[in-house]
Amino acid sequence: MVLRRFEPSDAALAHALGADPYVPLIGSLPARPSTQQARQWVRRQRQKHPDGDGFSFAIADAETDTAIGAIGLWLRDLPEGRATAGYAVSPEYRGRGAATSALVALTAFAWTIPALHRVESYIEPWNTASSKVATAAGYQREGLLRGHHWIGGTRRDMLIYAAIRP
Ligand SMILES: CC(C)(COP(=O)(O)OP(=O)(O)OC[C@H]1O[C@@H](n2cnc3c(N)ncnc32)[C@H](O)[C@@H]1OP(=O)(O)O)[C@@H](O)C(=O)NCCC(=O)NCCS
Repeated sequence: MVLRRFEPSDAALAHALGADPYVPLIGSLPARPSTQQARQWVRRQRQKHPDGDGFSFAIADAETDTAIGAIGLWLRDLPEGRATAGYAVSPEYRGRGAATSALVALTAFAWTIPALHRVESYIEPWNTASSKVATAAGYQREGLLRGHHWIGGTRRDMLIYAAIRP
């Protein structure tokens, strides 16, 4: 598993993630995207860093270079020393440790940014797989934020997990 920048050939990942019932609710990827929408999503990922939003990495198989997931380090709150991590893995590649490895790598990368003190992950209470990923990557659960995110047309409670600069 490696983290690398998105390439135009990663549109297949957009189709795989866009078929998941949850992923389109938590980002800009349309559900069941058209070819054009998949390409546009990849272009948006490549544009995140130039636009100053943060880093969107493809999680890729180290041997085949196939993109199997996406993970982002969002830096809107960098002046406050905080970033947010978000991740998704293609349904067919789940349960093999990809998200955990990716979050470990992303968090190590985060500490190369001198101004960062905290990396946060917001996770819905039902999302046990994501909570396990955060915990396995060294994040601590800090609490429940009631009605914190607007997802799928409703306000949702979110668990907040965070890693602190070692
Ligand atoms: C959450 C997600 C990224 C996990 O990716 P992954 O590559 O399968 O994660 P990992 O294999 O590193 O670890 C998943 C852990 O959750 C467990 N798990 C998976 N599905 C589960 C479920 N439905 N209930 C309980 N545990 C589950 C796995 O067994 C594994 O735990 P283990 O290491 O103790 O065996 C993936 O399920 C996903 O993309 N979900 C949709 C998007 C999403 O929810 N993103 C996170 C938003 S906060």
